[in-house]
Amino acid sequence: MEKQKLIINGGNQLQGEITVQGAKNSSLPLLSATVLVCEGECVLHNCPRLTDVDYAMRILSCIGVKCRREGSTVITDASAVNNNEIPQSLMREMRSSIVFLGAMLGRLNSCKLSFPGGCELGPRPIDLHLSALREMGAVITEQHGYLLCSAPRGLHGADISLSFPSVGATENIMLAAVRAKGITQIHNAAREPEICDLAKFLTACGAKVHGAGTDIIIVEGVERLSATEHTVISDRIVAATYLAAVGCCKGELILSGVQSAYLGQIIPLMQSMGCRIYSFGRDSVYIRVKDRLKAPPTIRTMPYPGFPTDAQALLMTATATAQGTTVFVENIFENRYRHVSELARMGAKIKVEGKVAVVEGVPTLYGSELQATDLRGGAALVLAALAAEGRSVVTRLCYIDRGYENIEAVLRTVGADIRRV
Ligand code: EPZ
Repeated sequence: MEKQKLIINGGNQLQGEITVQGAKNSSLPLLSATVLVCEGECVLHNCPRLTDVDYAMRILSCIGVKCRREGSTVITDASAVNNNEIPQSLMREMRSSIVFLGAMLGRLNSCKLSFPGGCELGPRPIDLHLSALREMGAVITEQHGYLLCSAPRGLHGADISLSFPSVGATENIMLAAVRAKGITQIHNAAREPEICDLAKFLTACGAKVHGAGTDIIIVEGVERLSATEHTVISDRIVAATYLAAVGCCKGELILSGVQSAYLGQIIPLMQSMGCRIYSFGRDSVYIRVKDRLKAPPTIRTMPYPGFPTDAQALLMTATATAQGTTVFVENIFENRYRHVSELARMGAKIKVEGKVAVVEGVPTLYGSELQATDLRGGAALVLAALAAEGRSVVTRLCYIDRGYENIEAVLRTVGADIRRV
């Protein structure tokens, strides 16, 4: 896996149709939520084939949840959960494994896990997760890189106010609260579509969750949850990736299976850059780009429904060859400009000062030897290589494979000259 690389000959326009995969950042908390279902099989459709989803399934198996994949459907049975420890090797593989904490406490009243790993996007603290769970009665001690968590008298409801609308913390609190005694209020909750998808699943299992999608979520604890069948929402960041790809390479695409409402600021922003984009039918988006894009003056990343931090690198690539200068302000993560030095090797003109990056559009990028630095940064390098003149080689594909199903196969079907060796 590690030795694989993408060979890309840039310059082709894109043309055709792509069905967008299920959302990684919804599949992961949903898989964690199935730990709370004490009997019966949960069926999750539209679960993307990604290494992060594989790791989540391995974590489930490790604690005693039976889980198997049938195509894009994952089936789990958590009736025999029997282990409260997630091994360090699995925890280190991805940051989002912290989202198992709330569900395991909710099910087993105890769990032992190590500090999460995953992309290096600056320090990935979990203070908001831990302080909220402590308010719900969890006793959490940190010893040699391990978290020892227990709720001797079970978890109880609490009024929690998040200092930052953390996606993961909101999910962990919801998962801990659905079977806790009493009512939990989450103030300044994250409003991402993945939160709504999780609430929809939990409600279908018999949980009492209200307000998902707003900044106040109320959960009333129930005795038990019953198994259900659920279809994961589409991945809005993967959709943004393929929209940005047309922005970089020109051409026209139809994306199907996309809830355009979840794309929020991305569609109006790209329209302001000169892209023709409109949504049609129940779940399709059309985009056509013929001429060089116009650089938007500013792009600020914000919690949903603001411009998503996960799309920052992707839109930066589109602005790298646009007409004019764009100022990026990355307000969510500290270290999310790691792709800039790689883009600079291709001739991009980008200056980074702390959380600000100033991109001065150039007419052309040139192919180069590139190393993916993190999941979305890696995808941004692929887009840049598709648009560049000449040949590029992209390595460290493990980052990209965490979030994109067969990225080269999908792009080849719409005309890109890209192959994995
Ligand atoms: C989720 O990460 C996503 N991951 C990220 O996507 C996404 O970038 C992020 O939300 C923001 O939208 C998953 O859903 C698996 P946060 P998460 O908690 O939950 C700080 C991708 O590319 N913070 O909202 O970790 C934190 O340091 C990934 O798929 C604390 O300070 O994001 C960061 O600066 C990358 N203390 C900010 O909040 C805490 O306890 C946002 O974090 C928790 C977070």
